[in-house]
Amino acid sequence: MRTNPPAFDPVRRRLLGAGAAVLAAGLPLAVRAQPAKAAAAQPIGVIGSGRIGGTIGGLWVMAGHPVLFSSRHPEALKPLVDGLGPLARAGTVAEAIAFSDVLFLATPYGALPQLSRDHAEAWKGKIVLDATNAYDHRDGPIAAEAKRDGIGKTTARYLRGARVVRAFNFMGAGQFASEHHRQGGLVAVPIAGDDKAALDVAAQLVRDAGFDPVVVGPLASADRFAPGGPLFRQVGTAEEFRRKMGER
Ligand SMILES: NC(=O)c1ccc[n+]([C@@H]2O[C@H](COP(=O)([O-])OP(=O)(O)OC[C@H]3O[C@@H](n4cnc5c(N)ncnc54)[C@H](OP(=O)(O)O)[C@@H]3O)[C@@H](O)[C@H]2O)c1
Repeated sequence: MRTNPPAFDPVRRRLLGAGAAVLAAGLPLAVRAQPAKAAAAQPIGVIGSGRIGGTIGGLWVMAGHPVLFSSRHPEALKPLVDGLGPLARAGTVAEAIAFSDVLFLATPYGALPQLSRDHAEAWKGKIVLDATNAYDHRDGPIAAEAKRDGIGKTTARYLRGARVVRAFNFMGAGQFASEHHRQGGLVAVPIAGDDKAALDVAAQLVRDAGFDPVVVGPLASADRFAPGGPLFRQVGTAEEFRRKMGER
């Protein structure tokens, strides 16, 4: 059982700052297309602001979106939000859910039962871009559920009423930090979902982060690009990714 760390644990602060740090360590802008400001600002609530939440949330801030990064210890997110500027703020998980109808889920998969219990009615109607992956060794019995029923369907069952789109889970946070807005061919990011309007929102946010969305199919198809699936970590352009989809 995990115990809560003290609020001022320096190791923890470094980890939580990793999202911003990983962005800073990315390729210089000269070798990538210039990040364009998004046509319309889309507020986004980030749930789980570690490596992947901090990195993708940071890319959305760079695109001009207001982002509320959340944690069970929001005070520990100060280095992250200070580094990202005025569009970034920190808050609790409840504040992130209330902040927007568009949420980004980036916690360990084992947090889902608690998120389901603690915010039972709050998920209804929310578009949730789900970047989580499930691992037996880390996440406990829910990982077996995800394997049995499909990871997208399992997320949707816990976040009752949410319009779940699987996105940003297929490669590592460091790769997202270094490959965004790649010149000579944007990197494809596979997405999957059952709700057409939610998929459209997710596709736009993939573009705003500096990638090229590829819809793999309905939520049930998300296992194809989850760990163990044939499309996991298949990094390439949309054309290359679609070719692999045809082969695998
Ligand atoms: N890192 C990657 O390269 C990568 C790539 C693709 C997908 N993923 C997936 O993305 C998810 C996050 O991975 P990560 O590497 O970013 O993890 P991480 O750096 O450890 O960050 C996870 C964050 O979730 C928060 N959290 C944990 N339990 C929570 C709970 N019960 N309620 C609310 N927030 C909770 C933690 O903050 P507090 O403890 O302060 O609340 C922490 O900052 C995982 O499912 C992972 O498999 C990761």
